Order: sequence, then structure tokens, then C-alpha cells
Amino acid sequence: TFSEAEKAAITGMWAKIAPHTDSIGAEALERLFCCFPQTKTYFSHFDLCHGSKDLHSHGGKVVKAIGTAAQHLDSIDSALSTLSDLHAQKLRVDPGNFRLLSHSIQVTMAVHFPNDFNACTQAAWDKFLCKVSSVLVSKYR
Ligand code: HEM
Repeated sequence: TFSEAEKAAITGMWAKIAPHTDSIGAEALERLFCCFPQTKTYFSHFDLCHGSKDLHSHGGKVVKAIGTAAQHLDSIDSALSTLSDLHAQKLRVDPGNFRLLSHSIQVTMAVHFPNDFNACTQAAWDKFLCKVSSVLVSKYR
């Protein structure tokens, strides 16, 4: 559960990101694939070149799903239930990769919103992205 201060930090930052889901998502993915090349194995069918349509369209989907979670902070499990089925049962992404994507998302936010993404906001987002990740890996096996 999130405190009122954490909720404010999460939804406040989401409001900044919301108009830029595709570009923020594409950059987070680019950082993920560049810093942690093993994560590229799940996306062999994608064009992973800088600025590609695949990066923008998939990045947008990922960030929009995070927005759905941000708008349902008291019911993230049910809000992401379908996505959880997909990642656990169909995609079978190694759970360790979620930490790497969460990190890449935080770096991207820090670069684009340096005045808003202070230590308190980062702590709230780290907790939030941990929760999102745990929901997405919760239905494994
Ligand atoms: C697909 C969200 C983490 C690999 C998706 C989709 C969304 C999503 C919204 C599209 C689902 C659809 O088309 O119906 C998220 C979120 C994550 C996360 C919110 C964590 C914050 C990861 C990680 C990996 C991964 C860590 C692997 C490194 C994939 C793959 C697909 C997918 C391979 C299918 C792509 C395609 O072929 O279109 N994810 N994801 N996801 N995700 Fe994730």
C-alpha cells in the first residue's frame, strides 16, 4: 500500500509522462537493450534501431500500462491482470528482467524531468515499479 505522499509523487510524475508515452517508452527500452543486451533476446522480431517504429509503439504500450497502474494504485493486481497472464503464461520473461526495465524507466524520468524526479519521488516510483513488476510475475507456473 502507498502513503498519500507516495500516491501524490506517483500520480504527479505520471501527469508529466502521460503526453509523451511513446518517446519515454522508446528511450527506456533503448536504455534497457543497450545496457542489458541479454534482454534483447525477447525482441528478436523487433527493429531495435534508435528511433524505430517498433521501439516507439512497444514503448508506448509499456508506459501506458504503467499509467493504468498509476491510476489504480489501490487495485494494481486487477488493473494489470490480463497483462500478468500474458507475461507469466505466454511470454515467460525471466523475472530478473523487470528490475532492469524499472531501472531504465527511472533513468529516463530523471533525464527528462530533473526538477520533479527528486529522491522522494524516485523512492515512490521505485516502490511502485516493484509492485507493478511483482504483479506481472505473480502468475508464473
Ligand atoms: C508485451 C507491459 C516488462 C517483454 C507487453 C505489452 C505490454 C507490456 C503493455 C503489450 C501487450 C499486448 O500487446 O497486449 C510491460 C510492463 C512491464 C513489462 C508494464 C514492466 C514494467 C517486460 C519485460 C520484458 C517484457 C521486463 C522482457 C525483457 C515483453 C514482450 C512482449 C511484451 C516480449 C511481446 C511483444 C510483442 O511481440 O509485441 N508488455 N512489460 N516485458 N512484453 Fe512486457
